[in-house]
Amino acid sequence: MKLMAPDVSIFSSKEEKYMQDEDFAYFQALVLNMTGISLGEKKRDLLQTRLGPYIRDNNFKNFSGYRQYLNTLPSDHAEWQKLINLVTTNKTDFFREPAHFDYIETNLIPQWIKMGKKEVHIWSAACSSGEEPYTLAMFLESKLPKDIKYKFFASDIDTNILVKAQNGVYPHSKYHEIPEEFKKSVDLGRGVVSDWFRIKKNLKDNITFEIYNLIEDSMPGNQLFDLVLCRNVMIYFPKEIIKIVADKIYQSTTKEGTLFIGHSESLQAIKSGWLPHAPSVYKKVGKGKKR
Ligand SMILES: C[S@@+](CC[C@H](N)C(=O)[O-])C[C@H]1O[C@@H](n2cnc3c(N)ncnc32)[C@H](O)[C@@H]1O
Repeated sequence: MKLMAPDVSIFSSKEEKYMQDEDFAYFQALVLNMTGISLGEKKRDLLQTRLGPYIRDNNFKNFSGYRQYLNTLPSDHAEWQKLINLVTTNKTDFFREPAHFDYIETNLIPQWIKMGKKEVHIWSAACSSGEEPYTLAMFLESKLPKDIKYKFFASDIDTNILVKAQNGVYPHSKYHEIPEEFKKSVDLGRGVVSDWFRIKKNLKDNITFEIYNLIEDSMPGNQLFDLVLCRNVMIYFPKEIIKIVADKIYQSTTKEGTLFIGHSESLQAIKSGWLPHAPSVYKKVGKGKKR
C-alpha cells in the first residue's frame, strides 16, 4: 500500500489559506448581523476552521472569492442558512447545569400546583440538538403531578442541528449523561443500531421544534411561556443584543414567568424587567432589584 502525506493545507498558497483582515471584518459583521453572535479577534482561527473546508469543498478560490459570491445573492438565498449553520456552536448535554432542575422541583412545581395550573408551557430558546428540551421532558414526566400537562416549544437558528433534535436519536456515548432514574425515558438500540438510543415517543410528542432566530422581531409560538431556558447562547452576544433578547423573552412569558440563563452568563450589564432570584434564575416578580 502506498502511503500518502496528509493534506494539511486547505488552499494552495499561504495567502489563500489564511483569512485576510478585510475578509475577517466582512464575516464578523455578517455573522453579527445575521445571528447576533459577536466574533472577536480571538475567534478568527475558529471562523477560519469552520469556513475553510466548506470554501475549499465548494471550489471557491479563497475567503475573498466566497465573499464576492455572497455579495451577488438575494437575501432569501439558501446559502445564508448554510453559513449560519457553519458558524454556530452547538455544544450541549443531557442534564446540563443540574441546579436548574432542582429549582424546578423545589420552586416551580410547588408554585404551579399552588396556582392550580392545568398545563405549563416551556420554551427551550436555543435547544441545539435537543438534549435540553428532552431533559426537561424526562424530568417533568417524572416530577410533575399527572393532572398538570406540559408542552414545549424548542427552537434554534441552526437548521442542521434542529434535524438532529427532531430525530431524538443519540450515540450511546451520551447515555451516561442521563441519571439512572430517568433512563426509562429512552429506548436502547439493538443489533445494527446498538450504538444508539432514542427518546421515547410519548416525550417527543410534547415538543414542537422550530427554527427561530432570537434576534428577530416577532414573538415565538402563539402562547405565553411559564418558563424559558435561554442557556449558553447569550454568552456569544454583545450587550445590546442581550438586552433585545432578554426583553423579548420578558414579553413572551406569563406574569409569574421564569427565565433560566447559563451559569456563566449574566443579565447584570443590561437594564431589564427581570429580577434575579437564584444563580442564573430570573423572575418577573419576587426577590431582587430591577436594573
Ligand atoms: C452552546 S448551544 C447551547 C444549547 C443549550 N441551550 C445548552 O445550554 O446546552 C448554543 C445554541 O444557540 C444557537 N444560537 C446561536 N445564535 C442564535 C440565535 N440568534 N437564535 C437562536 N439560536 C441561536 C446555536 O445554534 C446553538 O445551537
